[in-house]
Parts: sequence; structure tokens; C-alpha cells
Amino acid sequence: MRTFPAIGGIRTVADFKQHLADLHLSIPCDLDLETGAASPLTQSIPFNGKRIGNRFCIHPMEGWDGTPEGKASEATTRRWRNFGLSGAKLIWGGEAVAVRHDGRANPNQLLINEQNKASFAELRDAVITAHRETGEHTDDLLIGLQLTHSGRFSRPNEKTRPEPRILYHHPLLDRRVKVDASYPLLTDSEIREIIDHFIAAGRIASDLGFEFVDIKHCHGYLGHEFLSAHTRAGEFGGSFENRTRFLREVAAGIRAIAPGLQLGVRLSAFDLVSFHPDPELSTPAKMGPGIPDQYGDWLPYRWGFGVKASQPEAYDLSEPRQFLSLLRELDIKLVNFTAGSPYYNHHIQRPALYPPSDGYQPPEDPLVGVARQMEVTRELKRDFPDLIVVGTGYTYLQEFVPFVAQAVVREGWVDSVGLGRMVLSYPELPRDIISGRVLQHKRICRTFSDCTTAPRNGLPSGCYPLDGYYKQSPKATQLKQIKAARRAS
Ligand SMILES: Cc1cc2nc3c(=O)[nH]c(=O)nc-3n(C[C@H](O)[C@H](O)[C@H](O)COP(=O)(O)O)c2cc1C
Ligand code: SF4
Repeated sequence: MRTFPAIGGIRTVADFKQHLADLHLSIPCDLDLETGAASPLTQSIPFNGKRIGNRFCIHPMEGWDGTPEGKASEATTRRWRNFGLSGAKLIWGGEAVAVRHDGRANPNQLLINEQNKASFAELRDAVITAHRETGEHTDDLLIGLQLTHSGRFSRPNEKTRPEPRILYHHPLLDRRVKVDASYPLLTDSEIREIIDHFIAAGRIASDLGFEFVDIKHCHGYLGHEFLSAHTRAGEFGGSFENRTRFLREVAAGIRAIAPGLQLGVRLSAFDLVSFHPDPELSTPAKMGPGIPDQYGDWLPYRWGFGVKASQPEAYDLSEPRQFLSLLRELDIKLVNFTAGSPYYNHHIQRPALYPPSDGYQPPEDPLVGVARQMEVTRELKRDFPDLIVVGTGYTYLQEFVPFVAQAVVREGWVDSVGLGRMVLSYPELPRDIISGRVLQHKRICRTFSDCTTAPRNGLPSGCYPLDGYYKQSPKATQLKQIKAARRAS
């Protein structure tokens, strides 16, 4: 089985640049860091009559730790507080929030409705208060809420029971969520009810003072599935116009009911076919490297968005470009690019050296995955310079995040550098970078994937290896036992 060098073992930026060159990856990386006003990372971004105060963004990250009613728990509030402490000036959604119960990805996902309004107000307040405590202004802090319906990956009632709400039958993904050809599709009228819930959620978010909502279109969830509904009949499938009707109707509805609220979209800008562990190289103790699911019988491949139909192991940006032109027409300026899905091709979405327990070993050096996301983002930003673009996949760069972040912003590859997992292990990293402080190496995320493994096994997410809050909890012992049992089975 192939192994890849750990980033933690690379000592200097010069060595890292050499490593990138050896891999033939064109990830820009500065040798020296600027500080203060000279740093590209401290430049603000004009948006909607205000300024977003710097070039760091916190990506949305679910914690699987809300109450059964969908309110925040102490752990949820702590995470949002950490987002405020991070120093980043763009808080992209906090975490995926379901617009109604049947669209929850797990029974502990946050749920936005009138009854839970106060809880969302507290979360927003937690970000603002924490941010102020660090001595920062908040007039240049932009906080959004990510709205979602989990569609194919809904598990609203039991952590172990998928209750998919699907738009079409997928030749490879149906069996992963345990459905067959007889399983009913969402009807057009059920889709309209879901649209109404998105619009109602937008109004609540606006009442609470969130500056924008993200109409989530990524990671295989419902918004993303619309974009690949080529084989669906009726008003929401087939043509590009029909496949984007959901977005257009949600956007129009929210604009009518909450005119002051800005809109954003987190988009899986490309996708690939689904992957599974290579059975030939799997042992009871260790999954094999990821290989693509057999797609030979399904060519041209009509079940993806941003995927090459003739060769679904490669991406194709023609429809994503069309989608960005639509965002332009709809006057949606905030875009956060991600890729694929954590459920069926996690290596392109969250590059990691250590996969989640139900995943597969990396089929490529995770840096290749980082470079792929960065390159797609660069191309799309170049073609749509008027959009405010957030990039994804930077956590795997570890010690070298500051050097790459500075270079990509300076060179205009992105407007804002988004961070996900790193903020679970080391929330203050963006603030430390901007202040020119030496990074705390022991807190740097090493992509152990426990924050994904835990929820896949019914536990709340969190950084079990590095964050004291989780490290010392009984849940950490439980997670260790689950992982050991899996290895032994
Ligand atoms: C525990 C966990 C929860 C996540 N939850 C969400 C989510 O709710 N919404 C979303 O758009 N992405 C979610 N993501 C994906 C991240 O936002 C991000 O795209 C991904 O981790 C890659 O960025 P990184 O390399 O900085 O971690 C989640 C990731 C993790 C690790
Ligand atoms: S558990 Fe911690 S170290 Fe592991 S990937 Fe998640 S944030 Fe990173």
C-alpha cells in the first residue's frame, strides 16, 4: 500500500516548496510572512456597504451535538464562541442548519424554526461576544447561517437509520443509503414545501440579525442533488434551468420576505464518481486505498455535477461556470467553493492522511487533493472576478497554512481563505497568523479524522486528539474503544 510523507515531518518552508515541486504541484507558497497592514491577509473586502475585515473565513462545521428539538447545546455554543475567538472576519454559516425535521442529517443537527429562534440568537451572540473579547471590532465581522436539507443523506430520527429524501435514482449511491428502484422520489409539490421552509428559515435568520444565509449546494445534500438531477422528469430535473429552479425560487422567496438579507452559496464546484476501499488491499485492521466504484455500465455518466460525463474520475467545469453566471444574474456575490462529498469521495473534499473509520486510505497524496481544490477555485475566480470567493481545503497544509494563504490572496486565487478542521483543533490560528505570533505546533490539526469518525459512530464531533474539552471526556474513551473494536473485527 502506498504511504505519503506527513507534512509534520517537513521542517522549513523551503523544504515544503521543494516537496511541492517534487510532486509537480503548483500551490503558491511565500517564503516570508508579512505582518500588520502590509499583509495581504489583513486587507478588508468591500461587501454590501460594509467591509469584511480580513481574509480568513471559518467554514461551516456541524457538531452532531444539538438537542433533539434542534437547539444548541453547551458544546455547540462553545464551538461558535471559538469561531468568534478565531479572529476570522467571515463566519460562513457556523454549521449546516436543517430547515425542517425530515432534512436533518442526524437527530442532533440544529433545526431552525420559530420555537428555536432564541437558541440561534444565542449562537450569533456567542460569536460576537467572543470576537469582542479579543479586542476586535465587530462592524467588520460578517456572520451567515448555512441552510440545508440533507436530502439523500437525511437521518432525522436515528443515527443509524438513513431516511433518504431523493430526487432521482442514482445507480451507485442508492445502495449506499439502502434504497432500491421502488423507493419513492420527492414529488414536485413536496419540493415546493421544502422551498417554503428555506424561505421561512431565511426570514428567521434575517430577524435575528444574520447578515446572510448560505443556500447550501454541496456535499451530496439536497441543494447539490438538484444540480445533478439530469434524469428527473418534471419542473426540477433535466435541463439546467429546471435543475437550478430550486435555487432561483428560494432566492426569490427570501428576497421578497427579507429584502435586507444577503445570499451566499456553498457549492461543490466539481465532483467525481464515488469511491470505496480496494478490497484486494483491505485487511480486517485497515481499509485499502480508495478506488472508483465501477461506472463502466453508466457511461455517459449523468448523475453528477461538475463531473466529466465520458470519464467521471475527472471534473468538468462547464456547468459550474454556467451556475456562477446564474449567481451573477441573481446578484448573489458570496460563493464558497468546496468539492464532492464526505459520504462518497472524502479524499477530494477533506484531504487527510488518516481517513475516517468508515472510509478508505488516501488514493493520492492528500496534497494533490488540496491542489485540485485550489486550482479549480483559481480558475473560477479568474473567470468571475466580481464574486467574493472563499477557498477550501487548506487545513492539510498544517504549518504552511500562513505561507500558502498569504500567497493565494496576494496572487488573487481567492478572496478569503476558509478553514474547517484546523479551527476545531486550534481556533485561534487565524488570529495568531495575523498577529505574527509563532504557531502552537501541538494544536495544529494533523488530519486524524476523529472529528468525522466520531459522528459516523454516533458520537458528537470534535477534535478528540487535540482539544482538551473532548480529549478528557468519557466520549474520547468510547471513541477509542469503537476504533479498537473495528480494527479487531
Ligand atoms: C466535523 C466536520 C463537520 C462539517 N460540517 C460541515 C457543514 O455543516 N457544512 C459544510 O458545508 N461543510 C461541512 N464540513 C466541511 C468543512 O466545512 C470543510 O469544507 C472541510 O473540512 C475541508 O476544509 P478543511 O481542510 O479546512 O478542513 C465539515 C467538516 C468536518 C470535518
Ligand atoms: S480530529 Fe482534530 S486533528 Fe483530527 S482531523 Fe479533526 S480537527 Fe484535525
